[in-house]
Amino acid sequence: MSPTTANAADRKGVFIQTFGCQMNEYDSAKMLEQLRAENYAPVDSPARAHLILVNTCAIREKSEHKVYSLLGRLGGIKRSRPEVVIGVGGCVSQQRGAEILKRVESVDMVFGTDNLFELPAMLRAVAAGERVVRTDWHDRKRKVANFIPDFGSAFGAPDEVKAGLAITKGCNNFCTFCVVPYTRGREVSREPENILAEARAMLARGIREITLLGQNVNSYKAGETDFVGLLGHLNELEGLQRIRYTSPHPKDFDEKLAEAHAVLPKLCEHLHLPFQSGSDRILKAMRRNHKIATYLDKMTMIRQRVPSIAISTDIIVGFPGESEEDFEATLNVLRTVRFDHVYAFKFSPRSGTPAATLSDQVPERVRAERLARLFELNDSIVSERTSALIGSRQEVLSEGPHRRGCGAITGRTRGNKPVMVVDCNAERGDLVPVEIVSARKFSLVARDLRRGCR
Ligand code: 5AD
Ligand code: SF4
Repeated sequence: MSPTTANAADRKGVFIQTFGCQMNEYDSAKMLEQLRAENYAPVDSPARAHLILVNTCAIREKSEHKVYSLLGRLGGIKRSRPEVVIGVGGCVSQQRGAEILKRVESVDMVFGTDNLFELPAMLRAVAAGERVVRTDWHDRKRKVANFIPDFGSAFGAPDEVKAGLAITKGCNNFCTFCVVPYTRGREVSREPENILAEARAMLARGIREITLLGQNVNSYKAGETDFVGLLGHLNELEGLQRIRYTSPHPKDFDEKLAEAHAVLPKLCEHLHLPFQSGSDRILKAMRRNHKIATYLDKMTMIRQRVPSIAISTDIIVGFPGESEEDFEATLNVLRTVRFDHVYAFKFSPRSGTPAATLSDQVPERVRAERLARLFELNDSIVSERTSALIGSRQEVLSEGPHRRGCGAITGRTRGNKPVMVVDCNAERGDLVPVEIVSARKFSLVARDLRRGCR
């Protein structure tokens, strides 16, 4: 019997808890696609699941702690229902492997970042009484490989209008603070046709906005096709309304990509470009391969071409050796660029990375204090940037009714700001022309311009 015709009552429940980045969200969606084909259906609580999967993140120590504390809680479910299968995938699994099985008795299987497509085989092994560990890497000697098997496109969630799409995996940059090259391996790009085929399958199931995903997305290269070439191909897809990408690296952000934002109608006026630190000394110790002046020049360049572009960034405070002066340089970048959104983190030493063993670690108290100061400055900049949008006309991609109800819908602008559009009957997936009427700290309220003046 095909999974779509199977009796709903026969289906087994799967609960997937995802930690971390959009790549992990994407991987979890791929896990679910396979499991739907194996007659599983998603449930909204681990208590109702036959299979519980935890997709883990290792980027900071806190992310890893969250995984172990969740696994501790899931142990209770396993004790009351021993038939429940618990699997742990993602970056922590890739790094720790069998150690997780030793540390957490209730876990049945551990699988790495390249092994998620072996779920059915792993589940059979668990059913046969094995405790499974699979963390071997595939395709790693090749720079180009179609690492997403072609299946399951019919099984996507029907109520979503936006989704991620992996175009590369891994990273060759080895920033000294970052665990990703160790948990996801060297960079591999997918062939353009393979990516476009997945994009078309997404469009067929109602997706209207695609975010291209990769650890260093703009170093994408497959044969003659570079990142801008790929954007050009995607821009031609009928039915696709919006394209975004995350995360690019400043060293690979060039005039050609800035120009693409100006000329490709589907490429949103939105750029997430991490700068990490405003101090050249720290950027060098981070092995970021660019100076802060180059980053600032690139900000000027993109704003000249696309004045309305919304820009967001990632910052690490308290990297080993960061002085008060270095930190001030970071604050100065915030004052100069005036970002629309900032993701800032305290440096977290990750085992296996060079920065973890540097001798001049910044005390936790100083890291916390700097992070608080950074947010204090940035919150006021962001609210000024958000308020400046009041009165402007924007396009919102409807994601369906707002959770507060009252005839409002929710969606985002092309600049990626969340918006509530009041008194709006747009369907999920519609593009709605709006006027911004008020601003909250991180979001906007708008009226539907199709309804005329009120
Ligand atoms: N400590 C703190 N933040 C980190 N990031 C990556 N590694 C670390 C670390 N060890 C942040 C960077 C990156 C984002 C995804 O996470 O800012 O851009
Ligand atoms: Fe990590 Fe640097 Fe690669 Fe980004 S570019 S994934 S921060 S190593």
